[in-house]
Amino acid sequence: MKHYSNISQVLSLESANSKDGRNLEPSDLSVLNNASIVFDNEKILWIGKTTELPDIYQSVETTDLTGHCVTPEVVDSHTHLIFGGDRAKEYSMRLNGADYIDIAKAGGGILNTMNGTNSLDKHELLSISRERVERLHSYGIGSIEIKTGYGLNFEKEYELSHIVKELKDQYKGKVQIINTFMAAHAVPKNYESSSQYMNEVVIPLLEKLASEKVIDCADIFHESGYFDSSDTKLLFEKCIELNIPFKSHADEFNDNKGAKLAAEMGALSTDHLLCTTQDGIEALSKSKTVATLLPGTGYFLGKPQANARALLNAGVKVSIASDYNPGSCHWDNLLQIASLAAPNLGFNQTQLWAAITLNAAHALGLTDQGAIVRGLKPRFSIFKVPTIDHITYHWGRNFAVTL
Ligand code: NIG
Ligand code: FE
Repeated sequence: MKHYSNISQVLSLESANSKDGRNLEPSDLSVLNNASIVFDNEKILWIGKTTELPDIYQSVETTDLTGHCVTPEVVDSHTHLIFGGDRAKEYSMRLNGADYIDIAKAGGGILNTMNGTNSLDKHELLSISRERVERLHSYGIGSIEIKTGYGLNFEKEYELSHIVKELKDQYKGKVQIINTFMAAHAVPKNYESSSQYMNEVVIPLLEKLASEKVIDCADIFHESGYFDSSDTKLLFEKCIELNIPFKSHADEFNDNKGAKLAAEMGALSTDHLLCTTQDGIEALSKSKTVATLLPGTGYFLGKPQANARALLNAGVKVSIASDYNPGSCHWDNLLQIASLAAPNLGFNQTQLWAAITLNAAHALGLTDQGAIVRGLKPRFSIFKVPTIDHITYHWGRNFAVTL
């Protein structure tokens, strides 16, 4: 058992948790001053004022957190951090007027990183991914989703999923890694159609990895020029059959009705949503599917952002993630991204914190964490600041500490 005592402020999100992360008001933030948390390896046992600690916990080993704040664990629910090479040149080309989609059509984009990734062996990929996981963890991020999707052939995608599994096992107890299979990220040039690639690579590989119990989730880039609605339905139906949770990249460059499809088929989350319209918002509001916004990508690509206010006002569960990847968002610091996004996209303070903790966890199916309440998992982030407000107020500073 452990006891964190004299915590300057604890952000418990108790009220946000009881509202299932929806329709959150500033008053749902649930902050306790001079607080204590008692927990064992599995569960939070008690939370309250340090002065009111029950007698049964008086003898538990204590860590004094005066001058620190504790929040539910910050979760980055959408990253593509396993990749080789970089796209610095393409970034400059975009500043000089080239378009992301045009660069991709000319053989750049995801297929460029496919070459960079295929040129590295397993050890090299493991080592650069470890560096990236460590860096995200240093920002206070305790759970990280990692998508494959830059191998784009049967053997390399199989290897990438196994590397992520290895990372997951190596970091167990320190960082919780969620292994998302995303071979359906782009169609390599040697396939005539997305449906040929789905049937020859994506579906058979999904079946193999599911039977080996290597992956936690599957994702697809549902977008014009990448994968269409029938590819997406095929993947989702296969996932339902195999009992693998699923999600999608939807409505990023065009309104393909991707958010609607994901919500109606029971996806854990559907992400991007820059072009999602009213029908998608309505379907999301009636579902458990989390709408994951990736504002870093909008900033990095210089595109308009998703309509966060419409989603939030409709009672959708909204999350924010980094989308860290080499092409559309080479920015890995979720707290920075969320701090910048909140005033620009119109998140109140509770919506902002729920977006990177509670709802981000739910976007990964982690429904036993996300708030500091009795019975949930003891997954926290700790910051050396006097009040919660300071964490997102100092743009670009990092106050995370690991104990
Ligand atoms: O989430 N949208 C699809 N995939 C990534 C982009 C990856 C890349 O450009 O390499 C994204 O934005
Ligand atoms: Fe992405």
